[in-house]
Amino acid sequence: APRGVAVGFVFDPNAKCEPACKHAGVCIRNNTCFCAKGYEGETCQHANCFPKCKNGGACLRPGKCRCPPGFGGRYCHKVTCDGGCWNGGECLAVNGAARCVCPSSWTGSKCQHAICPQGCRNGGVCVAPGICSCPDGWLGGACHTAVCSRACMNGGKCISPNKCRCRPPFSGPRCGDRKRIH
Ligand SMILES: *[C@@H]1O[C@H](CO)[C@@H](O)[C@H](O)[C@H]1NC(C)=O
Repeated sequence: APRGVAVGFVFDPNAKCEPACKHAGVCIRNNTCFCAKGYEGETCQHANCFPKCKNGGACLRPGKCRCPPGFGGRYCHKVTCDGGCWNGGECLAVNGAARCVCPSSWTGSKCQHAICPQGCRNGGVCVAPGICSCPDGWLGGACHTAVCSRACMNGGKCISPNKCRCRPPFSGPRCGDRKRIH
């Protein structure tokens, strides 16, 4: 009996394996490889990973997975969002891809954009949930209120920065003039 081989293990010392056994596999019969621990396949070409690589990762060598973008960790079991998730967003696998899942008041790929449900008008910018930063001359939750630095008179209405809409018979920049009626 051949030496160094377990009982029931048929080993032909003249066996030829073509292509050759890979990863320290042993050619035991013509074109039959006995694979080293951690490898499998006709020529022991495939590495085995235990636990298996998750999320579409490829087993490079025993215990070493190559992970697709968005996944990491020894077994590709960790989801990683490039640049992280802001404002309480959570990095989760959504349809096989890493995504930030944002709290209701934030949006964007990193949850970096606040949501202002009321809208920000007249060039205002939503800077925090429900908070608009308004340009000069505008105020209010949605930047919807014009500011006239000197108040409109005689029932006139401030309709845009420093612009009054006057009630007849008044006119002028601040509705301070009364039209002469002949
Ligand atoms: C293995 O193959 C060689 C030629 O490649 C042949 O001479 C030999 O007889 C084969 N051995 C067996 C057990 O079939």
